[in-house]
Formats: sequence, structure tokens, C-alpha cells
Amino acid sequence: MKVLIVGSGGREHAIAWSVAKSPKVDKIYCAPGNAGISEYAECVPIGAMEFEKLADFAEKNAVDLTVIGMDDPLVGGVVDVFESRGLKVFGPRKNAAILEGSKAFSKDLMKKYHIPTAAYENFSDAEKALKYLREQAKFPIVLKADGLALGKGVLICNNLKEAEEGVKEIMEDKKFGSAGNTMVIEEFMTGREVSVLSFVDGKTIRTMTSAQDHKRALDGDQGLNTGGMGTFSPSPFYTEEIDKFCQKYIYQPTVDAMAAEGRPFTGIIFFGLMLTAEGPKVLEYNARFGDPEAQVVLPRMKTDIVEVMEACIEGRLDEMELEFEDNAAVCVVLASEGYPVKYEKGIPMYGFENFKGKDGYYCFHAGTKFQDGQIVTNGGRVLGITAKGKDLKEARKNAYEATEWIQFSNKYMRHDIGKAIDEA
Ligand code: AMP
Ligand code: GLY
Repeated sequence: MKVLIVGSGGREHAIAWSVAKSPKVDKIYCAPGNAGISEYAECVPIGAMEFEKLADFAEKNAVDLTVIGMDDPLVGGVVDVFESRGLKVFGPRKNAAILEGSKAFSKDLMKKYHIPTAAYENFSDAEKALKYLREQAKFPIVLKADGLALGKGVLICNNLKEAEEGVKEIMEDKKFGSAGNTMVIEEFMTGREVSVLSFVDGKTIRTMTSAQDHKRALDGDQGLNTGGMGTFSPSPFYTEEIDKFCQKYIYQPTVDAMAAEGRPFTGIIFFGLMLTAEGPKVLEYNARFGDPEAQVVLPRMKTDIVEVMEACIEGRLDEMELEFEDNAAVCVVLASEGYPVKYEKGIPMYGFENFKGKDGYYCFHAGTKFQDGQIVTNGGRVLGITAKGKDLKEARKNAYEATEWIQFSNKYMRHDIGKAIDEA
């Protein structure tokens, strides 16, 4: 088979690595890809939002399966373009990707189908939002831009003043662009966060092993929200009992709700969960693999990813069971100093050869490129260093050891990825 992967981050590197393991695959393309992905895939210079060009490429090169890694093209309808041209593609159609593309949609869906989530109100008028905040809100409170905002459109406000500023940022100054035309105001929840990714074929859902992300930029969960600074898998807090609850009251009901709405979901549903004192509740849905969740979940997956994706597309996921290794993985993101605000790019990087021949260690590229034959930094999140171990403690020790194998002058990382493991 020939497979085309669309995207250029650490998640797409992990997907490419996973696809490359499949005995069914003999050629991988990635659009646009990055320096690390080029080890398994031929990178082609087509942007993820150039739907017709991507489909032209797939057609011309007789690509058998296209896998969409990123949220923007999914929400923009890339799958519909491929399907209309008779091309096989893995991911939700536009009318299903709205599960991630509109937080107001997903909140209304959960309310209608009694899926546990935080109490909320949607607003498309700043004055009404402010009135609600002044008259009815309990603090802290959470403001969310409705649309895609690179994981940064969520503001936790401790008092009315912060909330008023938040409404201004989201709805008036349009800090997140049109994503802020509508806003969700949501009850603040406390508890452990867990990410559960799943494969879905429109009716059947098969969940993957759990993971936990670290969204804030600085140690101790301080600083700004980022795309994710590191992950571990599995989450020791995600017990069998919690899994049973979620399968019954969250996962299958979400798939059934989408089907009932005439929006059958095929692809990956990412459940961002909060394990509250009242039980698990949905924080958010994503319509794709998490980044950097994929970098700890996929290295532990034993099942052939291409077979699962094909089963999803063909509506026969019920015939499959997913298998994961009985071990653990930790991913530490190496970022550019200053991320997520301001940082330098184009810095030369060294040490990649240290990963050669090291089983259970992975150097997933997130923002890198070749410049005059040398790998240089090309983004805020630069690499995801993943290591496996027999348990979380060993995986964490291994991952931090491997972070030392790579050098670049503005390298930044959190030093407490997986610290919660000690409390488990
Ligand atoms: P989201 O993009 O919706 O996952 O939000 C980003 C982060 O904001 C989450 O991972 C949580 O840490 C936090 N968050 C979002 N919604 C809430 C909420 N209702 N209560 C507390 N924290 C939240
Ligand atoms: N790591 C969180 C996300 O991919 O949205």
C-alpha cells in the first residue's frame, strides 16, 4: 500500500512511525512533513489546507490511504473533498469534525444526550456574556472560544475582573480570530485530567490506552497554556472502574449521539476527561490524535494501525480488538526557550545519532527542518523525546536521560513531566 499522511508535527511523526511498521505498507508520503518524518516518508511540499492539491497528489501517485493528522483540515472538510473524488481517507467528515471545531456544538450535544460535562452557557453576544458573569457567575469560571485556537482558547478566570478582560480578549479583540465569535462560559472543575483516544467507525468505538498531558509551559503547572509539554501513558488514575463508567456513559453515548444527529463519526475521537469527585466528566473532544499523546500511545500499540484505520473506514471495527504492551511510556517535549510566546527558529541541532539502535527510545520531530543539510529548529515545540519502561518510573527516568542526547542552544523543557506518578 501507499499511504499519505497530512501534517507536520510530532503527532504525524508518531503516526508515520506506526504506519511504517505495518507489513501492508511499502511507501509513505507526508505533506508537508518535517526533517524527522523524512526518515520514513517522502515529504511533499503541499500545505495541510490545500485540499485539492492533496487530492490531486493522492490520485496521481495512486495513494491507497490518506491519514489526516491535524484538526484544521478536518474541520475545514478535507475528508469530504477526498471522498467526493473516490479517494480512501481516514478521518471524520466536516459535519462530524465539528465535535472539535465548535465547543458550543459539543456542549449542546452532551447536554442533549446526557453525557457528563461541566455546566455551561453559550454566548454570541459580548454584552449578554458580561451580564451573565456579573449576575450569575461563580468564580473561578472558564471561558472558551468556540472554535479552533491551537489549544490556547481557554481562559480560567479567578474573579469578575479577569472574566471581563477575558470576554474582551475573546469576543471583542478577537485574540483567537473568528474562533471567538461564540464563547462558552463553563463551570470550573477540579480533579485529575486524563486523555483517552479512540478509533471510531461511525457506530463502534475501541478505546486506546490512557495518557496524561501537561498543558502549561512551566514546571508545577505554571505559566501559559501550550499545545502540550509532555505526556505519560498509561494514567495510573484511570482505573478499570472509571473505564467501565466512561465506556457506558461517555464513549459509546458520544458515538451514538453523533450518529443520531446525522453526523456519523469515523476516525479518532480524543476524550479530554476530568476525573472529578462526582465522577468523570468531558472537558473537551478532539477529532484527531492528541499531540503529544500520540507519542506515548502509539509506541505502546501492538495492533497494526493501518488495519484498524481500514476497519474504521469500512465500518467493521466491531471485528477488531486493540492490543497494547503491558508497559509505560513518557514523552518530554523539547521546546524553544520562550514558547508559546516568542522564540527563535533556525537553530542547529545535534545528537540525533544517539537514538540509533536504541530500542524503546524515540525522537519524534515536531518543529524541525533541513537547512543546508543540517537539522535546525523550526517551531515552538521542537522534539518529543519518548522512552518506554517496564513501569512509569522507569519510562520517566529513561525519557529524561534521552533528553540529554540532543543539543540546541535554546533548548527548553519541563522537568516535572510525570511527577504525578509519584502520587499514584
Ligand atoms: P481544553 O482545550 O478544553 O482541553 O482546555 C484546556 C485546559 O483548560 C484543560 O486541559 C484544562 O486543564 C483546563 N480546563 C478546560 N475546561 C475546564 C473546566 N471546565 N474546569 C477546569 N479546567 C478546565
Ligand atoms: N495534547 C492536547 C491536544 O492534542 O489537543
